[in-house]
Amino acid sequence: MAEIGKDIEKARVILQNGGLVAIPTETVYGLAGNAFDADAVVKIFKVKNRPSFDPMITHTDHLDKVRGFVREIPDLACRLAKAFWPGPLTLLLEKTEVIPDIVTSGLDTVAVRIPDHPLTLELLHSLDFPLAAPSANPFGYVSPTMAAHVEEQLGNSIPYVLDGGPCRIGIESTIIGFEGKIPVIFRLGGKIVEEIEKIVGTVKIRDVFVSRALAPGMLESHYSPSKKVLYGEISDLIQNFTIDSVGIIAFKKRIEGVPEFQQYILSESGDIEEAGKNLFSGLRYLDKLDIEVILAEPVPDQGLGRAINDRLMRAASVR
Ligand code: TXA
Ligand code: MG
Repeated sequence: MAEIGKDIEKARVILQNGGLVAIPTETVYGLAGNAFDADAVVKIFKVKNRPSFDPMITHTDHLDKVRGFVREIPDLACRLAKAFWPGPLTLLLEKTEVIPDIVTSGLDTVAVRIPDHPLTLELLHSLDFPLAAPSANPFGYVSPTMAAHVEEQLGNSIPYVLDGGPCRIGIESTIIGFEGKIPVIFRLGGKIVEEIEKIVGTVKIRDVFVSRALAPGMLESHYSPSKKVLYGEISDLIQNFTIDSVGIIAFKKRIEGVPEFQQYILSESGDIEEAGKNLFSGLRYLDKLDIEVILAEPVPDQGLGRAINDRLMRAASVR
């Protein structure tokens, strides 16, 4: 099994030698390797069982380092970077040849972000290459928000998990690209649309079911536990099942008549940030119960709630 610890030097040495380390970020844990080293990146695809058409995000600790591997940082992108990095926002920028094609699955753009986690920032600071890091889960499964989640699923395939505690945000970064001068959101995430629009004005949001060709990670079925998930009003959905066969993800109120252990409440006080932070742990918890189906209700569809609903909808998509 992988060792779990807080030893940045150990992580650095493994990465320097072309190996992989799971790293904490404020969003979810990433499975990291040297982004300049195609062999290390191949290992990431293998460990995750990720199809090679699904590009990954490149992480670094400073805007100056980003300038070393992208053609340019357009004005709008620069404003977003300055406003929100380090933070849960990924920018799609035109790459140079130093980023191997495998990182971007042959696309001309590279997805870049500076994550906001002290351990990982220190690690990135000590490296002279950026880290390619998709979420540290088997392809298609729910992202990990704790070191133990990574250990459970990838522990046999990697040597080290850098333990930064539970992820503060718990939802992946918002991905934003540009069509000419128009900012386009490719994936809703931890940086909310309302905040982004304060910096760059109105953005376009790609419909998740249309955008597959452009952002393959937006496959409808994604972020899914192994159990079937149904998304909608619980009082309606539950009619078709026996009580002992359901697990429930509810925003803040328990459903009467269903045993407590079969219910996961995202935030009893109705705090949307707390709900986001708990979401993936909740899906993982219910996935382990002896039930048939997970019923998930929408949360209020504003701010981070939009990203939470997006993840629930995708978890519920038919595979
Ligand atoms: O918060 C996050 O973003 C986490 C942490 C570890 O940083 N990372 C993450 O990576 O969620 P991943 O690989 O699970 O999701 C990255 C998404 C994928 O859906 C991929 O298709 C998309 O980013 N992507 C990467 N490069 C792209 C590009 N050049 N154009 C469009 N989409 C891209
Ligand atoms: Mg992922």
